[in-house]
Amino acid sequence: MSGIYGSRGISIASGKGATVGDSEGREYLDFYCGSGAALFGHAHPALKQALVEAAELPWTIGPGMGSDVRDRFKARLNAILPDRSVFYCNSGTEAIEAALKLATSLRPGKKKVLALRRAFHGRTIGSLSLTFNPQYRKEWAHLLPPVQHVKPEELPGAVDGDTAAVFVEPVQGEGGVHPLAPSLGEAITEACRTTGALLVSDEIQSGWGRCGAFSASSLVGLEPDILCFAKGVAGGIPIGLTLWKKELGDFSASGHGSTYGGNPLSLAVANASLKLLEDEGYPEKAKSNGEFFRKLLSGIDSPSISEIRGMGLLNGVELTVKAVPVVKRMQEMGVLALPAGPSVVRFLPPFPAVEEDFRKAASVFAEALKEEGR
Ligand SMILES: Cc1ncc(COP(=O)(O)O)c(C=O)c1O
Repeated sequence: MSGIYGSRGISIASGKGATVGDSEGREYLDFYCGSGAALFGHAHPALKQALVEAAELPWTIGPGMGSDVRDRFKARLNAILPDRSVFYCNSGTEAIEAALKLATSLRPGKKKVLALRRAFHGRTIGSLSLTFNPQYRKEWAHLLPPVQHVKPEELPGAVDGDTAAVFVEPVQGEGGVHPLAPSLGEAITEACRTTGALLVSDEIQSGWGRCGAFSASSLVGLEPDILCFAKGVAGGIPIGLTLWKKELGDFSASGHGSTYGGNPLSLAVANASLKLLEDEGYPEKAKSNGEFFRKLLSGIDSPSISEIRGMGLLNGVELTVKAVPVVKRMQEMGVLALPAGPSVVRFLPPFPAVEEDFRKAASVFAEALKEEGR
């Protein structure tokens, strides 16, 4: 495996619910969840059953073939977000690539694409053009399509008649866990409406119930024309979705494509995940558990904490010290979390996490801060 990821120093051998086990038999509370993709926890019985049933049928059939599984998934999704077209792919960055191509082809002649400072939208060339972090961009700057990155408060004023698309995360994840202020979300929506720019909401990390509603956009005043989902959609099986209002039109013939996009295996699990959101009331639980967790975090008396931010089960704590040593110490004490930038510890708990898990994560975090937060 490439060295780009570094190593967390453990090998994961088992997992159930909000817990994983390593090859040495140690258990960890998993608030990392494969960068948030294991949104339903590990080995969720309903997702396992859907996967096992789907494994008996053709796994991949080609996107042009009709599929009962795809129809059932689309009907369920349609009940939540009506009158949308969908492009199926296999990851977050692909969902963003599709949104970028679609938006710019639906607004020919308009030259501006806007995104936010601190934005993270992926690392393939189109998505990377929308991602802000100069460290991620610098080697490929000469290849990137032009995108203007503006401060959140300056975004509404930057949208004009020459703007094709505006990309926003309802809660910036990788950029440090920054929820968008609803008044700003409303102003961005209004600016797009009046100029005809297409508003793209990247819910790859914040959506699918994680932040307390199926669509995180609805919590921050965004009314997107195009929506991108990935990560937890099929509980961690690779999938990405780009959804847009049908009335906007479509890709041109052969304007885009994906070999695996919409394969029955991932869509069978995605369909089961949608059903779980309803049956288990996971978005509502995410909202209340998130509030509970942030209250616990606020109760930690540490000079190393400068701010606690988050929504539902996407939370970050800004530190006055570096995040990585704290994350490492927490891992040694049996809790997995992850950094979001140099000084933010990010927590991405799965839906099945319970009160006791949040209490453990908060107390281990407090202990790690005592030891590492100097
Ligand atoms: C908001 C957001 N957009 C896009 C991506 C890229 O997704 P992927 O890693 O599946 O390509 C991520 C991944 O962390 C993300 O958080």
